[in-house]
Amino acid sequence: MRRRKFLVILLVVAFLVGGVGSVYAALDGNAVMSQYNCTGCHGVSTIKGTDNASTVTKIMDSIAPGGMMANISSVNKLTQAEAQAIADVLFPPTTTACTDYTYSAWSTCDTNGRQTRTQNGYLPANCTGTPSTQPVLTQSCTPSSVACTDYTYSAWSECDTNGQQTRTQNGYLPADCTGTPSTQPVLTQACNYVPPPTTGTMPVPTGAQAFSYQPVNMPVVSDDPAQAKPIGVGPLATGGDTIDLRVDIGPFAGPVDVSLVLYGPAIDSGDLYFIVPGVGLQRLSDAVRDEDRSESDAHEGSHDRERRLRDRVIWKKNVTSVNEEIFMGNVTALPSGLYPLVLNVTSHDNPDNSYRWITYMFIP
Ligand code: HEC
Repeated sequence: MRRRKFLVILLVVAFLVGGVGSVYAALDGNAVMSQYNCTGCHGVSTIKGTDNASTVTKIMDSIAPGGMMANISSVNKLTQAEAQAIADVLFPPTTTACTDYTYSAWSTCDTNGRQTRTQNGYLPANCTGTPSTQPVLTQSCTPSSVACTDYTYSAWSECDTNGQQTRTQNGYLPADCTGTPSTQPVLTQACNYVPPPTTGTMPVPTGAQAFSYQPVNMPVVSDDPAQAKPIGVGPLATGGDTIDLRVDIGPFAGPVDVSLVLYGPAIDSGDLYFIVPGVGLQRLSDAVRDEDRSESDAHEGSHDRERRLRDRVIWKKNVTSVNEEIFMGNVTALPSGLYPLVLNVTSHDNPDNSYRWITYMFIP
């Protein structure tokens, strides 16, 4: 029972929608006028305005509240579309043929003396059809004789973790110039990478882990040892001529010992340098010699000697963080060559557990 009722409603709806659709599709002003019997009460001249648009307005005004036919219920539901259809019978819309095109602006004159534009519309406005002539999309022109001296660029990219940002070259200066500038475009530059703030602490090493990374301008602080880049070498990292060697690491969850090792084959192949408090750079060979000279207990084992030697080359003992500039100067301060840098962080309570970060300075 309910099901049949539903089907009937469905059919009625389908009929109404279909009916409205077809009426709308073929709205004929003459049919509308006879449907409403417009001329049964007055002549066409009563309906007419002075043109198509004013006729629509006149009809709609007459059925609007206060209008002359506002109270004639057989007419006052007339729609705007029906009024338009009637107006189109009384004042058939005039169509004008298109005679010309509208265009984009001309492109700049290329080196072959050609410039182009695109066609984007027709003239006169609201015309129909296509002009009998073809659009003119290219023309010859006189190339500018001004030579290009510079480039235009995209905006710089975000500073990456290596302290570098890039951009792309996308044009030339001055405008409409010809040729290419004598200088190369500058597409990369050094920048100061500011890492997202880290809230946590770096765990004290529980095993031996090593991380190596390409030189960076500023140290990258992170609570994740794999993300941290604790040694920064300054603008040298991105081709600059200033060294700004600094270490920024921590905070650690517990006490650690930190040593910084510089291997300088260009200064002294075969020896390592350590930063030692109060001494500065110290050779490993000197530390070994000093240790040998110090009065040592003849009974102590080699393990103890190793431990005391390690103590001698520790830079920061029993700390939870380091943030220090070590050296600032021009690249000319060092002979050219590759200088590996190693930051060694060991658990203060268990020196066998360490993080080791390895990077380098390259002095051209
Ligand atoms: C039942 C009779 C009746 C029918 C049907 C009728 N009209 Fe009218 N109409 C009038 C009357 C009455 C007036 C008042 C002025 C007059 O008498 O000329 C009027 C006025 C108008 C006016 C305003 C004239 C002016 O001077 O501003 C317009 C426009 C108009 N009718 C359009 C129509 C159209 C379009 C239809 C058909 C869709 C229509 N009428 C159907 C009775 C009718």
